Amino acid sequence: MDRRKFIRVVGGVSIAAATISSAGCAQRMPASAIASWRGPGHEADVRRWILGYAILAPHSHNLQSWLVDLRTPDEILLRCDTSRLLPEADPFSRQIMISHGAFLELLDMASRECGLRADISLFPEGQFTAVDIDQRPVARIRLVADSTLVREPLFTQILKRRTNRESYELTRPIAPDTWLAMADSVKPNLLQFGHVGPDQPGLLQQHRKLAAEAWRIELTTARVVLETYSVLRIGAAEVELHRDGMALLDGVPVLMSTLGMFNRHISPAADDYAVTSQIRDFNSRLASTPAFLWLITPDNDRQTQINAGRAFVRIQLAASAAGVSLQPLSQALQEYSEQAQSYAEIRRLLELSQPGQTVQMWARAGFAPAIGPAPRRGVDAQLVRA
Ligand SMILES: Cc1cc2nc3c(=O)[nH]c(=O)nc-3n(C[C@H](O)[C@H](O)[C@H](O)COP(=O)(O)O)c2cc1C
Repeated sequence: MDRRKFIRVVGGVSIAAATISSAGCAQRMPASAIASWRGPGHEADVRRWILGYAILAPHSHNLQSWLVDLRTPDEILLRCDTSRLLPEADPFSRQIMISHGAFLELLDMASRECGLRADISLFPEGQFTAVDIDQRPVARIRLVADSTLVREPLFTQILKRRTNRESYELTRPIAPDTWLAMADSVKPNLLQFGHVGPDQPGLLQQHRKLAAEAWRIELTTARVVLETYSVLRIGAAEVELHRDGMALLDGVPVLMSTLGMFNRHISPAADDYAVTSQIRDFNSRLASTPAFLWLITPDNDRQTQINAGRAFVRIQLAASAAGVSLQPLSQALQEYSEQAQSYAEIRRLLELSQPGQTVQMWARAGFAPAIGPAPRRGVDAQLVRA
């Protein structure tokens, strides 16, 4: 094997492990990287306690682009850290907005726990354009004491929620009650929740096929691969340093990276073992997937994207309450040109007929082995400094 090929293989193994967790001689997740998952301790400022839950929201590529300003008393101002975007995979920052919606939903739930109503005013200085986001606030939140508030039962799942990329139990279907709980969790949002399972084997197979094809495209689109490489955190030291991105603790890539043999500036060629083996691994996870779910919105403005994020995290918490795992699959929903056919295909599969209608989230669902949490930077790291 020549050196270039070797680097490619290692690079491929790494990205595979980042997207599909792997076993073997792994390094341990540094305790400091996951300390946030113990939940906030006593805080003199209740806003920090609330944020201790909000930062546990899912975020595309675990970038945690939430920038929080607490300088005005009783107020939380949320902006987007525009150095934490994914311009290649998510050119219009739709997924970033979804991730901000998930943050706001957990913030709302945590506020309720304290008897505080979170009055969330979205885009108080104007909505972002459809293509760009900027430094203007995503939301201004005022916390108001309200004795009539009802606590949110899904709150108890926040510390337990995980994105699970393992193989799922093919023959263990999700119970009708659980689907109902997931559907109920998104009311009264104006969006459409749907799912497909083993009772529709032909349709289920079409979902698997599309997920596999979109994944193949992602893996063979060099600039998107390199963008993912740029947020890989390889080995315990990098994970501990960054506490964001895609943590990779498997032995082989960690060793190769340590030896300087994994060059994160080179993307593997389509016929490399790196790519073909990942496609095979991902296909086997798809084959083990008993169900898919999705969220469709009637339009795609920024407020709608935020609401989709709020709804998605509620679904994930409702799933978690029933022991069901989810893994979002964003590839076919992404707006970069190479995915145009996948994008059209998911619309066809889910029978979208109106031009503005948008599939905001698509995920595999099922029962999976328990996994550990993903790193978080912690509340202090999310705060705007004076
Ligand atoms: C909008 C959005 C898109 C996502 N897309 C994917 C995806 O395509 N594949 C995947 O494995 N995880 C995806 N995720 C999950 C994130 O990678 C995950 O939230 C992050 O790594 C943190 O892990 P956690 O959810 O376990 O806290 C997505 C999450 C969000 C909010």
